[in-house]
Amino acid sequence: MSLQQFLDDLDVLVTKAQQAFDSAVSLADMETSRIEFLGAKSGLLKSVQKQMGTVPGPEKPAAGKRFNEVKNAIESAFDAAAQRLETSAVEVADEGFDATLPGPKISMGKIHPISQTILLLKDIMGRLGFTPVEGPEIEDSWHNFDALNVPLAHPARDPLDNFYLSNAKIFASDLAAGTASQADMLRSQTSTVQVRMMQHNQPPLRIISLGRVYRPDTADETHYPMFHQMEGLMVDKHVTMADLKTVLRLFATAYLGDSVPVRFRPSFFPFTEPSVEVDYFWNDRWVEFGGAGMVDPNVLTSVGYDPEQVTGFAFGLGVERLCMIRHGIKDIRDLYTNDVRFLAQF
Ligand code: DAH
Repeated sequence: MSLQQFLDDLDVLVTKAQQAFDSAVSLADMETSRIEFLGAKSGLLKSVQKQMGTVPGPEKPAAGKRFNEVKNAIESAFDAAAQRLETSAVEVADEGFDATLPGPKISMGKIHPISQTILLLKDIMGRLGFTPVEGPEIEDSWHNFDALNVPLAHPARDPLDNFYLSNAKIFASDLAAGTASQADMLRSQTSTVQVRMMQHNQPPLRIISLGRVYRPDTADETHYPMFHQMEGLMVDKHVTMADLKTVLRLFATAYLGDSVPVRFRPSFFPFTEPSVEVDYFWNDRWVEFGGAGMVDPNVLTSVGYDPEQVTGFAFGLGVERLCMIRHGIKDIRDLYTNDVRFLAQF
């Protein structure tokens, strides 16, 4: 290509680019033109630059000089056009802006009633000296059952009543055949956290653990396949049933009010002996809130404690029930359908 032809091509290019930038009415137009003329891979400037190689040797310096001038011109034209568009955008916005209009209404988010309840329970139990701790929601059947003195053939371990995650051998027939083995599962109770805490800490212990538990129940007014429990555990020298009763009474007083009667009914749990069920008298009837008892010596032994040296009590209360009673919520499903109109009331 002759020098003259190269220079002519450059002239055409700079004019075309200038026109394109001038006629751009939006930043999107600008971007299209930028790619067309200045695009690093296949922009027109780039293709003209490639032609420079075909200009005869002695004329190359002149070609290069003019090329640089044109390149700078196109780049400045681009910047000027972009600047023009930005300024006019601000002008348009300024014109449409009415400082007297009220601002957009900001609605405040709310903490979910279950989370509010959990915070309150931690606060009350914290004042009684209980430290909140957490454990995993995916557990193994040893922490969920064996360490808690729940034997392999116990109905609570039934595959239809638990969310097992692995295909371990957990049936009574496997037990009979001597081939039973550990299974991973979604924990069905927060009592698992007692075990984990005792495994890794020496007494005295005073903890609560609040969290989700899972059971394959069909959802109805009072059941949901996922719910929350508050587990409590105190282990020390000379802990007695009187301490358990005192703590649960103080808890009821703080949570429900001064005059709430508390009732303990004899019951059975594999991990406590003796065991009780705990009822509070609320709105003219007794309402069951959970279970409790003195930690079974087998549980203390399974975590390496000496039941001759220390004793403990444990309790497990349903958080949903505590929340629903306090707020007069009738249907547990309301807590989990995420209807903001419902949740915003609390
Ligand atoms: N884990 C029991 C349940 O889910 C509740 C419970 C009862 C927890 C007695 C305890 C306890 O710690 O001592 O039904």
